[in-house]
Amino acid sequence: MNSPAQGPALNVVILAAGKGTRMRSNLPKVLHPVAHKPMVAHVIETAQQLGASATQLIFGHGAEQLKQRLASYPVNWIEQAEQLGTGHAVQQAIPAIADNDTVLILYGDVPLTRKETLERLLAAKGDSALALLTVTLPDPSGYGRIVRSTEGKVLGIVEHKDATPEQHTIQEVNTGIMAADGKALKRWLSALNNNNAQGEYYLTDIVAMAEQEGVEIATAQPSSIAEVEGANNRVQLAALERAYQQRQAEALMLNGATLMDPTRIDVRGSVEIGNDVVVDVNVIFEGKVVLGEGVVIEANCILRDCTLGNGVRIKANSIIEGAVLAEGAQAGPFARLRPGAELAKNAAVGNFVEMKKSYLGEGAKAGHLTYLGDTTVGAGANIGAGTITCNYDGVNKHQTIIGDHAFIGSNSSLVAPVTIGNYATTGAGSVITSAVEDKTLAVGRAKQRNIHGWKRPEKNS
Ligand code: UD1
Ligand code: CA
Repeated sequence: MNSPAQGPALNVVILAAGKGTRMRSNLPKVLHPVAHKPMVAHVIETAQQLGASATQLIFGHGAEQLKQRLASYPVNWIEQAEQLGTGHAVQQAIPAIADNDTVLILYGDVPLTRKETLERLLAAKGDSALALLTVTLPDPSGYGRIVRSTEGKVLGIVEHKDATPEQHTIQEVNTGIMAADGKALKRWLSALNNNNAQGEYYLTDIVAMAEQEGVEIATAQPSSIAEVEGANNRVQLAALERAYQQRQAEALMLNGATLMDPTRIDVRGSVEIGNDVVVDVNVIFEGKVVLGEGVVIEANCILRDCTLGNGVRIKANSIIEGAVLAEGAQAGPFARLRPGAELAKNAAVGNFVEMKKSYLGEGAKAGHLTYLGDTTVGAGANIGAGTITCNYDGVNKHQTIIGDHAFIGSNSSLVAPVTIGNYATTGAGSVITSAVEDKTLAVGRAKQRNIHGWKRPEKNS
């Protein structure tokens, strides 16, 4: 029995061997991040989203750092020991290319190419052996120009340094991104030479070879210039970061979020949202963040790997990390929720409250200046201002358990391990070192003494 007809396998080749001298960095250029992720990782992920059956990473400089940082990505590592040009770089991948592959060539320092654009390039290619992603620039200086016949047929690419003054006026340029049939590509690559102004093996020379073989070279364009821009220095890197962030902001707004200023939000990970989320200025999202319907994030907050239920409000200047907040819960202003913090429905923490590995029950409140570590707080409990759970004895961490509707007086120190019962109360300023039963008042402080007739010291003459 025949298996169903399969299209050619997509084999992606990513060029990442350049040194990136102009970054002035110890980090290889392609590891410089956009939105906290190495540029080349964006490219690898795009290849994965396209359904690539294999991804070849052509590396040169900084092999150690690259292999360490990208260890989790399924790429085939191919070394280009000497950087003799883009054509030479792709030649290194020849052994990894099958005749019936469709080869897509991408660049490790061009991180913002959309999957949709590459799908358009592959669709434009169709049955042609070669397709180029081109873009028209107001200032094409420095780029390889697309040379077309009067009928508009692509004849070849001429590099800026090899171009005539007349060719310099061509504004349609080569982005470098292209798709080719494996068999033809290998044939063309093997025929490259370096007889040009830069003495390099130009990948772009395959275009004229294809044309001479009678190939009708297809072209496609990206939907924005940012998609095909690379970063050679940190000014360009910052521009890519802004372009990326603008894209994230637009996606959030189109998904139903109100952003008070779309230029003052940063997404360095993923944000999943319900309708009617409102985000004020200077908010940073990192890792995986999930926001329910109607969540409000006030100004100057950092949210990292957290899940917020419907109607949660994070007040200004709060840092929320590894936390889960149920419907209607609130935190801040100036709250710090660390990993393992969990707020049940309508629970609230106020200013200068830190929580770590702690659970605040339904409707429970810790309003001011409090540290809750390794603590479980029951429903409806009230944690007074200045309460500290003393969870660390210098060696080990210990648990504090506070019952439902307990009332912890201000400035209590709860020395763990310790249990406070349901409806129990601690007097303000208490140091609680042993269990407090349900409905009991515990007072653990020195008794007040009033000294009558006491005289203040007088200044020596
Ligand atoms: C290349 C194109 C040019 C295009 C421009 C778009 C060629 C000959 N020219 O020019 O038509 O307009 O990109 O930006 O292809 N690389 C390697 N190994 C090498 C050489 C380069 O991995 O031996 C990598 C670089 O790290 C870089 C990319 O390939 O990421 C492009 O190389 P670069 O030398 O910058 O090409 P351009 O001169 O910009
Ligand atoms: Ca370049």
